[in-house]
Amino acid sequence: MLSDASLGRSHRSKPGKAKLKAVIDECRAILGLPDDYRIGIVPASDTGAVEMALWSMLGARGVDLFAWESFGAGWVTDTVKQLKLEDVRIFKAGYGQLPNMNQYDGSRDCVFTWNGTTSGVRIPNADWIPADREGLTICDATSAAFAMDLAWDKLDVTTFSWQKVMGGEAAHGMIVLSPSAVERLETHTPPWPMPKIFTLAKGGKLIEGIFEGATINTPSMLAVEDFLDTLAWGKSIGGLKGLILRADANAASINDWVERSDWITHLAVDPATRSNTSVCLIIKDAWFKTLGDDDQAATAKKVATLLEQEGVALDIGAYRDAPAGFRIWAGATVETSDLQALFPWLDWAFAQVKASA
Ligand SMILES: Cc1ncc(COP(=O)(O)O)c(C=O)c1O
Repeated sequence: MLSDASLGRSHRSKPGKAKLKAVIDECRAILGLPDDYRIGIVPASDTGAVEMALWSMLGARGVDLFAWESFGAGWVTDTVKQLKLEDVRIFKAGYGQLPNMNQYDGSRDCVFTWNGTTSGVRIPNADWIPADREGLTICDATSAAFAMDLAWDKLDVTTFSWQKVMGGEAAHGMIVLSPSAVERLETHTPPWPMPKIFTLAKGGKLIEGIFEGATINTPSMLAVEDFLDTLAWGKSIGGLKGLILRADANAASINDWVERSDWITHLAVDPATRSNTSVCLIIKDAWFKTLGDDDQAATAKKVATLLEQEGVALDIGAYRDAPAGFRIWAGATVETSDLQALFPWLDWAFAQVKASA
């Protein structure tokens, strides 16, 4: 795989730039992006991509922020505490719920996360975004891209990273811009200092090179090669359709087990909002519910630790700010048969921990 990798060369050399451009072109093809949307590789993974959008584009009009778990809450903090924007409306929901997205009327900018990775709650669609909106929609789609149908006509800025559904190595993020987003970049000058790694426009013009593979700073060409390999795999299994089918089948197999279980359930309350990538589960067992918060967290942790010790599952504990439970990755790189092998182990581990309590 590495025989023709552009390693030990400048990323600005002809072969280096061609590799970066290939990442852009392959993403465009698999995701089915409209021809007039730009797609660029930018610094600092998904966080870098979201923050460069917030820093570059917000402030031109009021902004509506929708948050229902930790990552969405982070974008609220950026907007309110870092950028100190005042004309802000915040729509929040707790873990497991979605705020009423219909509160967005299109007159303002809007920031939201397509798939809340730490609660396993996703928006089922983008029907709540008016087609004739005046504001920009800025969507963190990092655990949604390549696993869910993203409504490109409703998204002005979309970001994601390489290491989620496609299973690449973490490095740069990706940013997708609609023509309206480009117009904002070319007409709006933010009042705050702009770090070089967030700069998408200069002198009222978009820096087009970024969208042709001339990255702002130096990427890992090894990670680039790895991502190209994952994209080739994605294409080989049927592109976006194949990727979505795999994630859907994985999520369905988890759901089948949950439905049969007497001790576990979904954190996402409404089935229509349940993620097909980051499936978050909580414990509904009657004994478990009598425990205090700390003991509940310790119990879930013991189950995860036991499975790790047995070499069965790694990193399946709930995110640190989320309710105690488990988060099982169901993205396209996961084999359904591996998930099916996991379920009896989870039943066993919980029974062990409960019996020894
Ligand atoms: C919804 C969401 N946003 C942002 C991030 C941060 O991603 P990155 O580490 O690529 O910056 C994550 C990581 O899990 C995420 O799931």
